[in-house]
Amino acid sequence: MEQFNNLVIETILNRSSVRSYKSDQIDEEALSVILKCGLRAPNGWNHQPWDIVYVQDKTFLDELNLAITSNSNSSVFYHAPTVVFISGDKNDEYYAADCPLAAENMVIAAASLSIGSCIIAYLSNFLNTQAGQVYKEKLGIPEDYEVCVAIAFGYPTTPNRSLTLRDESKIRKY
Ligand SMILES: Cc1cc2nc3c(=O)[nH]c(=O)nc-3n(C[C@H](O)[C@H](O)[C@H](O)COP(=O)(O)O)c2cc1C
Repeated sequence: MEQFNNLVIETILNRSSVRSYKSDQIDEEALSVILKCGLRAPNGWNHQPWDIVYVQDKTFLDELNLAITSNSNSSVFYHAPTVVFISGDKNDEYYAADCPLAAENMVIAAASLSIGSCIIAYLSNFLNTQAGQVYKEKLGIPEDYEVCVAIAFGYPTTPNRSLTLRDESKIRKY
């Protein structure tokens, strides 16, 4: 098994969702690499049917959080300093596959740079509702795009977290 040990495998096998972040903003160049890794994801016919917007405006994020939770003490994105929204063109055949693939590339790239992340369905779900429309518009997400994935990014407050379990019996040989 020794020959199958490399940084990519190690990063994938050790990534876990982070739900407590430092308030420090993530390194700008690191974010740029993470976003670029998202763009490198496989996607149907290379149509790249995504819109990717990153948000570091705390006022905007807090306002959005309040619209979802009605409680300024709790944060659906765990007070992460950066949130990336990946939206897909609903007119494209494969947007629903392509956007999560871009998201996965981003979280793996982030983990390799010691940047924590967590996919936040609360955010993407809300932006697709009538009440979320105003925020979707503010972010400049085109009308016929669906917000597929929202990802919180930041430096974890605790470096070593335990991994959630996976059921290996989900893998079958036919
Ligand atoms: C589609 C999707 C939606 C998720 N939404 C949330 C969320 O709203 N809040 C949250 O804390 N975690 C969310 N997660 C993270 C999952 O809970 C997490 O990936 C899962 O429990 C496995 O844990 P791990 O990522 O640490 O391996 C979401 C993950 C996915 C893929």
